[in-house]
Amino acid sequence: MGNIERKVLIMLKIAIILGSTRPGRAGEAVAKWVYEIAQKRGNAEYELIDVKDSNLPLLDEAVPPSQGKYSQPHTKAWAAKIETFDAFVFVTAEYNHGIPGALKNAIDFLYKEWNNKAAGFVSYGSAGGARAVEQLRLVMAELQIADVRAQVMLSLFTDFENFSVFKPAAFHEKSVNVMLDQVIAWGRVLKVLREK
Ligand SMILES: Cc1cc2nc3c(=O)[nH]c(=O)nc-3n(C[C@H](O)[C@H](O)[C@H](O)COP(=O)(O)O)c2cc1C
Repeated sequence: MGNIERKVLIMLKIAIILGSTRPGRAGEAVAKWVYEIAQKRGNAEYELIDVKDSNLPLLDEAVPPSQGKYSQPHTKAWAAKIETFDAFVFVTAEYNHGIPGALKNAIDFLYKEWNNKAAGFVSYGSAGGARAVEQLRLVMAELQIADVRAQVMLSLFTDFENFSVFKPAAFHEKSVNVMLDQVIAWGRVLKVLREK
């Protein structure tokens, strides 16, 4: 077995990042559901990362993050955490046809810790959060994150009771697995690229 083949068999570390922070958010149940489905697979290590727990203020770094000169303890802690992952699953709400400001802020804090990694999306909203994810895909390109095609779109009308209690239709579980298959495939190849 060559070096490259050996490296691609390494277990990936994948962060499931919950991007909404408001009290009573639907996102918490969605992120836990994704985490539980992912855990059953056993072919990667998963960790639930709640943007709310990172306690990041609005971006307060003087130097653009792409230069990697972080000054604040909260930035250094966030960078150290994100650095450890090979791939990401962003769980995002749709706010005014975009992603929650807290998620964008948390993304903007860092740069190289995101680069050359893979990502997939789970979104929810009246139109499945589709517009938020389209916006997020543009952001991914600038961060050199390879975002996979498969996407899990949950409807506020049919996957939530009274637009708040999460009761996902059974078929979404398969969509989560298809999305994770793609994230793992690209995540493995990009891990090799980073190690070169
Ligand atoms: C500020 C705000 C803006 C919203 N804008 C949209 C929207 O553009 N499209 C949509 O489908 N839902 C929109 N919604 C409804 C959200 O999809 C719904 O409240 C969802 O539960 C939000 O996710 P969260 O509970 O995790 O915060 C909006 C909600 C908020 C709080």
